[in-house]
Amino acid sequence: MHVDDLPTPALIVDLDVLDANIATMARRWSGARLRPHVKAFKSTALARRLADAGHQGFCCATLREMEGMAAAGLGHDLLLANEVLDARRLGVLVERGARVTVAVDSVETIDAAADGGVREVLVDVNVGLPRCGCPPDQAGILAERARGRGLEVRGVMGYEGHLVGLEDRAAREQGVAESMASLTAAHQAVGGDVVSGGGTGTWDLNRSITELQAGSYLLMDTAYGHLGLPFGPALSLAGTVISVNQSGGYAVADVGLKSLGMDHGDPTVVEPAGAKLWFCSDEHLTFSVRDAAVRVGDRVRVHPGHVDPTVAYHERYQVVRGRQVVDTWPVDLRNW
Ligand SMILES: Cc1ncc(COP(=O)(O)O)c(C=O)c1O
Repeated sequence: MHVDDLPTPALIVDLDVLDANIATMARRWSGARLRPHVKAFKSTALARRLADAGHQGFCCATLREMEGMAAAGLGHDLLLANEVLDARRLGVLVERGARVTVAVDSVETIDAAADGGVREVLVDVNVGLPRCGCPPDQAGILAERARGRGLEVRGVMGYEGHLVGLEDRAAREQGVAESMASLTAAHQAVGGDVVSGGGTGTWDLNRSITELQAGSYLLMDTAYGHLGLPFGPALSLAGTVISVNQSGGYAVADVGLKSLGMDHGDPTVVEPAGAKLWFCSDEHLTFSVRDAAVRVGDRVRVHPGHVDPTVAYHERYQVVRGRQVVDTWPVDLRNW
């Protein structure tokens, strides 16, 4: 099938760009040194491509992602890089033979892991992002508590999410050095082999971790596109022009904010060339056509501002090589 024959909106993955992104990352973070984050793409088909490229361990953000990965036979080494207070669904995965590690940052989450049947944990350390993670000086105490509950403490994780999008590379690098100094100190108190962290924006700046948790690099988005990273835009959304207002100088396509994650800003219209986005509403994208002759029925292509929520709106990827659709991958790790 030709890409222009797809019903729209359609979530498009360019397979050649995806494979180039996988290869670029693997040259620096090969095999188990990369723990790709499933939250960015929510697809076992894409995860299997990563496993085939040598990355057998994965990060997840939700129980549903953990379950889906294990059910697909991708449970070799799954890290729920997030806190849960009811870990029983994880315990079921352990009973079925998956290797499951969960992040803990409190007595409550340690107890939940132990009570739920999880055997392995990472102490999640706050390295500056106001989200989960214990204060660095509490990490050793929590590790002792976890060992007291019979849990294997594999090490620490600390995600520098407040830094990954900084446009100033020098500021990003400086911030990573400071954040990772506190993670290293926490690791000394905790012990274990694993120091897990990092993301797409800090992939070549974070040098003190044992494994990188990047996910967005695979498909990319325009927020990361501004940073000059060596990863190409593999993800786009195809739409169709459903209305043209010649006198007003604008056209309207059938892709709106219900099919695009907009929390990192507007998408970028890449087709037709020269089109300028005015605004997105629920089901519509309005763009100017002064410099481009656009007709009802024409195709549009946009690059999303934020990959993770964009993907979560869709049931499937249409996988293309050039303009040919070569496969369809379910976005099968959505929901909770
Ligand atoms: C815990 C954690 N690790 C790593 C990442 C890195 O992801 P990305 O590659 O999208 O920057 C994220 C993204 O939100 C995250 O939540």
